[in-house]
Amino acid sequence: MSKASWGIVGMGVMGTALSRNLARNGLRLALYNRFVKNQEEQVAAKKMEQYDELQQAQAFENVASFIIAIERPRKIVMMISAGPGLNALIDKMLPYLEPNDILIDAGNSHFEHSIDRSKYLSKKGIHFLSLGVSGGEEGALVGPSLMASGNLNAYNSIASTLKKIAAKNSENKPCCVYSNGDGSGHFIKMVHNGVEYAEMQLLAECYDFMKIELGMANEAISTLFYEWDRTSSKNYLLKISSIILKTKNDKGAIIDQILDQASNKGTGKWATTAGTDLGIAIPMIATALQSRFISSFKKQRVELSKHFDLDIPDQQNVESATKSLKRVYDFCRLMNHHQGFLFIKSAAETYNWEIDLAGVAQAWTAGCIIKSDLMEELSSHFRSHDQILIMPFFNQWLNTHKAVLKEDFRSLLSQNIPMSTCFAAWHYFLGITQKESSANLIQAQRDFFGTHGFLWKANPEKGISHGPWHQNN
Ligand code: 6PG
Repeated sequence: MSKASWGIVGMGVMGTALSRNLARNGLRLALYNRFVKNQEEQVAAKKMEQYDELQQAQAFENVASFIIAIERPRKIVMMISAGPGLNALIDKMLPYLEPNDILIDAGNSHFEHSIDRSKYLSKKGIHFLSLGVSGGEEGALVGPSLMASGNLNAYNSIASTLKKIAAKNSENKPCCVYSNGDGSGHFIKMVHNGVEYAEMQLLAECYDFMKIELGMANEAISTLFYEWDRTSSKNYLLKISSIILKTKNDKGAIIDQILDQASNKGTGKWATTAGTDLGIAIPMIATALQSRFISSFKKQRVELSKHFDLDIPDQQNVESATKSLKRVYDFCRLMNHHQGFLFIKSAAETYNWEIDLAGVAQAWTAGCIIKSDLMEELSSHFRSHDQILIMPFFNQWLNTHKAVLKEDFRSLLSQNIPMSTCFAAWHYFLGITQKESSANLIQAQRDFFGTHGFLWKANPEKGISHGPWHQNN
């Protein structure tokens, strides 16, 4: 039998979908899945029986035979859960790998682990590529968004295949970006997920507002989201939210039957922690994560709600209130994307990565969870500007709408529901565009109680100075 051109490790949902996509694009595959008695037996062979595209593949449960079946230099995609299991797998494969073989981690790994793996493997002559993959099972099957990084020659040797299997946007461009810097592919995927958390939370806050404050039924909210999705706000999460809100079973609307406690698999936490470690402001991602945490305290929420009266919502004109809400939603999305891209740009400076922001935006125009018309716009604007707030198109919109947005937020503040991610956007905007901040008082307080020092505004070159605070004590 002729050798396989690529190997895939991990025949779970994502690994299977990606294998089918690769096979459909003409690759001869070797498929490996571990053997776990009574739990995972003949997994790859069963997938071959199940899916026509995989019939020409070869199935393995033995690492050595799997690796030997792949032509050199080997290209092996690992699609297994991130964590220690991945290190164990790599160590199991190492004795059979040869210099210039390429290991591609397509799971949701932490970027710092990818940096470590890259260093570890490069000492052994093996190339390691970190590959962020977005789009869930459907994306992996018909066209995911791909974010790659690692050795450039290794990437170049697989780039045409990655571009073939990736999603194509409205201009038929592949949603696949390469960035130079170990681990940066997984960093970009982590930021994607952070932006995803905030985008999801914004929609949840809009839904809450319409349901509680405006008394709108699920169908009506669904219709409104559908209409918003026919404007420049068009995006995947908005579309699916519209569908979700009108989906029913025999007990009625499914949305009303789902327990209001949000889970998470950790990438939002990673993003928030990385932002904190790097000293980069990403308040919308952090707040969206905190909102999930607050939601998970269901028992306490129910208990505490008994101690406070629920205010009766004001009578409002639904048409003007939803028009104002739509403006807030558009504004918040701009702030969220501004923070996300600035997060990537700042991290690239710290880690010395070369990242093309226009390329990242392009990779996010289709295939991924945060695909949108806004992203299509951004992929062209990032060619000339590296920050959304100063891109003439958006800068003009913000300046034109600033006064009315202030009114929009003023009216939201008088409501009874939490909209912390929306307000995080507004306060970020006020903060990041404020020439003189209140941090002079923070510096003075630090100096007062801890002699931490401050810089004089008039001549910072003088260096750290202290105030005569205790004269007035
Ligand atoms: C994607 C998604 C995907 C997954 C998240 C969910 O890009 O395809 O982001 O990676 O849906 O991991 O994350 P939470 O469980 O943390 O919401």
